[in-house]
This record gives sequence, C-alpha cells and structure tokens, in this order.
Amino acid sequence: MADALQRSPGSSSRASTREEELRASAISRAREAAGTRSGIHGDDHWRRVAEVGLIIARREEVSAHVVLLFAILHDCRRENDGHDPGHGPRAAEVARTLGHEALAISPEELDRLAEAMHDHDRGLVTEDTLIGACWDADRLDLERVGITPHLRFISTPAGSDPDLIDYCADFLRDAPSWDELAQHAERIMEKTR
Ligand SMILES: [Fe+2]
Repeated sequence: MADALQRSPGSSSRASTREEELRASAISRAREAAGTRSGIHGDDHWRRVAEVGLIIARREEVSAHVVLLFAILHDCRRENDGHDPGHGPRAAEVARTLGHEALAISPEELDRLAEAMHDHDRGLVTEDTLIGACWDADRLDLERVGITPHLRFISTPAGSDPDLIDYCADFLRDAPSWDELAQHAERIMEKTR
C-alpha cells in the first residue's frame, strides 16, 4: 500500500496544540472505557480497523479522530464473538456516556459516531462518508473470519479500492500500535485543517 501507515518518525517536534492534547486525552479515555478484549473482535482487529480507517479517512477527507474512536469502541461491549446484536447499541452508549467534550468531538460528530457504532453490524451502506469510512474499515477486516468483503456492502470509493482490499486480506499483518495510530491520525488532521 502506497499510503499505508508510515512507521518512520514523521511527526514534527513542535509543541502540541491544545486541540491535539484534547484529542490525545480523548483517545486515552476511549481506550480506558473500551478495556481489553482478545479474539476475533478484540484489540488486534480494532487496530487493523483503525489502520485502514485512517487510510480511508485521509482519502475521503473525513475526521481521522472520529474514525479512530470508532475503531477503539465499536466492538468493546461484545459479550461473545458470535451473534450479539446488542453490542453496537451498547458501544454507542459508551460513547454517549463519555460525551462529546471528553471525546474531543462536536455534538454532531458524537451523533454520527454513535450512529456508526449502533448500526455497524447491520449490513447497511450509507452516503454519510464519515460513517461509511468507519463501516468500510470494519468490513475490510472480514477476511479474518473467512468472509471476502463484497463491494455491495462498501460505502466509500476509498473503501472500494482493489489495492486496499488486497492489503486488508492479509489479516495476519502486524497492525500498528495505538500510539502510532494516534500519531498518524494527528498527521492526517493537520493536513486536512
Ligand atoms: Fe469490528
């Protein structure tokens, strides 16, 4: 992937802005609320969703920070790795309980983040590019459970890129750490400001 997450130290050495500090704090709070989870809907999956979500967010010019929050929280209240239709609404409730200020997003972004989490496992597509970026990133990691993602369930042009789909098929790849992902999200936020 030409624009896969660069691991070289790419962040500038300038002082963090207040907004960056708030977003870093929000990521910490979200990760704390999410806790740890292993298995096919656990941390390895969340980091792959974040990695691919950031690629889509950059290409579609939607908030990398919101996509990162989705990756952290969307499966955090699963009760099992099988049929668990309540886990999306429970995850949305986690975000609403944290609130938009703690998550360093606007009330409108919180509504869209909550909607993305509430409905993420319902097989829908959307014209809302931010929500679509979240759903596409999650679906492009379906190969790990033996399902090849079908374009009819992909919402964004970026998520439909054959090169990205090929990249995601390697679900055993070493996903970046949360610190690397947060730094990458900041670089995207900086470019899209
Ligand atoms: Fe997921």
